[in-house]
Amino acid sequence: MDFNKEIERRNTGSVKWDMLEEMFGDKNVLPMWVADMDFDNAPEIKQAVKRIIDTEILGYTFPQTSLYHSIIEWQKERHHMDVSKEDILFSPGVLSSIAVIIQALTKEGDGVLIHDPVYTPFSIVVENNNRRVYRSELTIEDNLYKMDFKDIEDQMRKHSISLFLLSNPHNPGGRVWSREELQRLTELCQRYGVILISDEIHSDLVYTDYTCVSPVTLDQSFKDVVITLHSATKTFNIAGVKASFMVIYNEELRSKVVHIQEQTDLSSVNSFGLAATEAAFSHSRDWHEALMNQLKKNRQTVLDFFRTALPEVPFMVPQATYLFWFDASSLDIEETKLKETFADVGKVALNDGISYGLAGGSFMRLNFAVPEPMLEEGLNRIKHVFDTL
Ligand SMILES: Cc1ncc(COP(=O)(O)O)c(C=O)c1O
Repeated sequence: MDFNKEIERRNTGSVKWDMLEEMFGDKNVLPMWVADMDFDNAPEIKQAVKRIIDTEILGYTFPQTSLYHSIIEWQKERHHMDVSKEDILFSPGVLSSIAVIIQALTKEGDGVLIHDPVYTPFSIVVENNNRRVYRSELTIEDNLYKMDFKDIEDQMRKHSISLFLLSNPHNPGGRVWSREELQRLTELCQRYGVILISDEIHSDLVYTDYTCVSPVTLDQSFKDVVITLHSATKTFNIAGVKASFMVIYNEELRSKVVHIQEQTDLSSVNSFGLAATEAAFSHSRDWHEALMNQLKKNRQTVLDFFRTALPEVPFMVPQATYLFWFDASSLDIEETKLKETFADVGKVALNDGISYGLAGGSFMRLNFAVPEPMLEEGLNRIKHVFDTL
């Protein structure tokens, strides 16, 4: 497992490497944006995919008992979730699941509450389905995001909110929500008849001092108001295989979601996605451990760099994810111009905070899941922007 081997990804159709011209106006900027890693996959996953190519006809497939078993074991061991086979619904992606859930459990015009800032596509998928987006701004305390429960309750009381979409842990701030926060949020959902969608795609990218808690483990009654969304794709860097699953304990909710999955034919995962997910959860534990060691090292490099070379720049210490969220307000540049400024002046491609919501407007998101020499280069380019302007 050599996470420092530089692997050529140009001309492979990689969003991160081959869409630079389109997204940043320059194909030579250093890509430290979209959330996939420049690390090779676990050999066990590649072997599982290769086995299909070498030995099978690429016909229709369905999830095998061994795949269910790998998911059930992983969720039990890592997240203390008790999942049965019938609670699991497969889906081509977490975003497809969210779209299906919106259609199944809300009506046109209903409100969906999300945090501000939060993962950009949350608001897009809600709007594309003709539901209203309401945002509850996260507050910052000691350079960490905190939920504003009074605001959340006010919005649930005022608007016709049907769903709350939670990034658990939080993308882009890297926050691992505490048990107390999740307990309070879920109780509010329960009180106001809101279904909580807990998107746990980043839940296996948590640093050792923190534990990602799924709200369904806090109270038996929460299983009726919480749907959890999962995937091996983020943790094991296999986003291209398009595979995910939801856990829905409540039978009535589940049957409504299944109905829309059938209407839209969005319940299947391709052969490679099924095989890769099983190989990830059943056979790639060593790779995962090594990955977390590398990410911990990279995270430390980023923190040390910002503390010593850019002491005037506030940032959030990621408790999870390989995403680093720093505040570029000292540049005194219009928020809508930050992305192009980092690309033009620093030749580095970062995600701009404004795309995650107005409250994140002064921030930039750096993806540090890259080989160490590239990380060093990227950090120097960021510093160059602060030094130049
Ligand atoms: C919070 C969150 N949810 C969902 C996704 C995307 O999931 P999928 O590719 O399965 O649609 C991402 C990708 O970065 C994410 O950060």
